Amino acid sequence: MASERDGTAIVPGSYDPVTLGHLDIISRTAEVFEHVIVGVVNASVRKSNYVFSVEERVEFIESEVAALGNVEVKPFSMLLVHFARENGAKAVVKGLRAISDFEYEFEMNQLNRKMAPDVESMYLMAAPEYSFLSSSGVKEIATFGGDLTGLVPAPVASRLQEALKR
Ligand code: PNS
Repeated sequence: MASERDGTAIVPGSYDPVTLGHLDIISRTAEVFEHVIVGVVNASVRKSNYVFSVEERVEFIESEVAALGNVEVKPFSMLLVHFARENGAKAVVKGLRAISDFEYEFEMNQLNRKMAPDVESMYLMAAPEYSFLSSSGVKEIATFGGDLTGLVPAPVASRLQEALKR
């Protein structure tokens, strides 16, 4: 049977580090689109103090998505909509957790739509078990020696604990 999946989607983020919530959004996107590019922000005006280098952030994701077959991981340091166009993507897919995400994403959506009306933004609701999960929360837990089981992949947990332990 021919695949019903069609087109390329970008799933962008800082991924510092990738969480199980991000991976859930990525694999759900990979069920819908033929080709998924996980875009890892290399330079952001908003957050510049990353714990992990872009190479490390890319590597963490690559080893988790290898089994999916239709997902590649690429760093980018340009506007998201330009990255989407450059890769022939018809959509940018993002996860939404709480109302607080909505406000920020609504603003980003308007800006991105203004710059590139040809690139559609789509939103997947976070699964309930991940609706509280964020990279910054995970970093805070790691800083104080908390358990990261069920929040990030095991190799990421040990690298994060190493990087942040006090
Ligand atoms: O919350 P995150 O993971 O830091 O989000 C990163 C990203 C790129 C998805 C978010 O900043 C966004 O939507 N930016 C749109 C504006 C843009 O193109 N910025 C350039 C990023 S280098």
